[in-house]
Amino acid sequence: ADLNHEYNSSLEFDYYNSLLINEKDENDNYVELGDEFILEPNEHFNNLLVNTTYSDIQLPTNVYNKDPDILNGVYMSEALNPVFVDNFERDPTLTWQYFGSSTGFFRLYPGIKWLPDENGVISFDCRNRGWYIQAATSPKDIVIIVDVSGSMKGLRMTIAKHTIVTILDTLGENDFVNIIAYNDYVHFIEPCFKGILVQADRDNREHFKQLVEELQAKGVGTVNKALTESFKILREFRDAGQGGLCNQAIMLITDGAVEDYEAVFEKYNWPDRKVRVFTYLIGREVTFAPNVKWIACNNKGYYTQISTLADVQENVMEYLHVLSRPMVINHDHDIIWTEAYMDSAQSLLLMTTVAMPVFSKKNETRSHGILLGVVGSDVPLRELLKLAPRYKLGVHGYAFLNTNNGYILSHPDLRPLVCTTECFSSLF
Ligand SMILES: *[C@@H]1O[C@H](CO)[C@@H](O)[C@H](O)[C@H]1NC(C)=O
Ligand SMILES: *[C@@H]1O[C@H](CO)[C@@H](O)[C@H](O)[C@H]1NC(C)=O
Repeated sequence: ADLNHEYNSSLEFDYYNSLLINEKDENDNYVELGDEFILEPNEHFNNLLVNTTYSDIQLPTNVYNKDPDILNGVYMSEALNPVFVDNFERDPTLTWQYFGSSTGFFRLYPGIKWLPDENGVISFDCRNRGWYIQAATSPKDIVIIVDVSGSMKGLRMTIAKHTIVTILDTLGENDFVNIIAYNDYVHFIEPCFKGILVQADRDNREHFKQLVEELQAKGVGTVNKALTESFKILREFRDAGQGGLCNQAIMLITDGAVEDYEAVFEKYNWPDRKVRVFTYLIGREVTFAPNVKWIACNNKGYYTQISTLADVQENVMEYLHVLSRPMVINHDHDIIWTEAYMDSAQSLLLMTTVAMPVFSKKNETRSHGILLGVVGSDVPLRELLKLAPRYKLGVHGYAFLNTNNGYILSHPDLRPLVCTTECFSSLF
């Protein structure tokens, strides 16, 4: 569909927006992008109200629902409707089928009505879900370096913290991470993790988020020591054959860099540039932009300036595009299976999401491997286990499921005992 679609910057297109469907204005007319969308309770979807003829479109509040990129993507991906319907007809055990676009829209089949969160916004962004990120990137080792010198006080620190949390949200069990803060000194924000990388599983991510909240800005910033420390950790990890191997990166969050840092890159990262350096310049000030940009550009990274809290999400996501590229070159379009989770919409069944990245096949973009998004479907583990019926297993036989990256999805002895709030609220 993408191959045959020509981008039209003035495209007008009415689509079913899952927030606006069935909404009327004061004159009893359907609102724009609203329109009537018949919903019926469906037993297969745990009696939720769904429409099995069409998928519909969800957007996070901070993404404009008529942005030309959104309109073109939604228009192009209308082609998925008959595919979803056909899949469901051919395999009635299928549950949700979806396409999460790199531009931020989420096309979900069957169509549903989406309700805002308690605070009146829609924060669900398909691009920071585990299935999206795992499918879009290969495993990665990441050191986040954050400037906590005096100039970062106030709003800059708030933006920096939010940037770190957003980066952490892009990491999963296949990734390794650490966070270093620097001013006059270099300190690992978790002293117990000094000099190492830890698995970016949920516990460690949450732990880091708490520590990030406590960061305070003071003193003078010297980035060199923090960079040196990061390169050393990543090299050690690489040499030991641990971690993600394919992707190593440093995320530098600062409001400026003045030192002579070239020597550090020369010593630790050039000429191979095995570690990419992504730089996030915090604040409106542009004096240091050339320096910070130089760091990224000379280390195969990406430079962005983040001047408001609202910019954080979009800017952080950019790095995923850069890191998704090696996969295209290697033709390594792996299907991924997420870890088992409980789905509250499916009567707390244990589920996995099967997902796969989608790249543009347009000639002009083929060599860059532009990521269009990720397709996925939720699969109850029960359905998978039916493939190994008891009578075929024998008296003492049992079935277990393993993903291609070695995680156990299902085993008779493995039962998630605690289900965190996060896992209950994570529908997709
Ligand atoms: C672009 O979209 C507009 C509005 O839908 C339409 O009038 C125009 O013909 C389209 N242009 C092309 C080149 O298809
Ligand atoms: C889905 O909604 C469309 C538009 O309202 C409607 O024409 C169609 O009949 C609905 N499908 C089902 C299965 O209710």
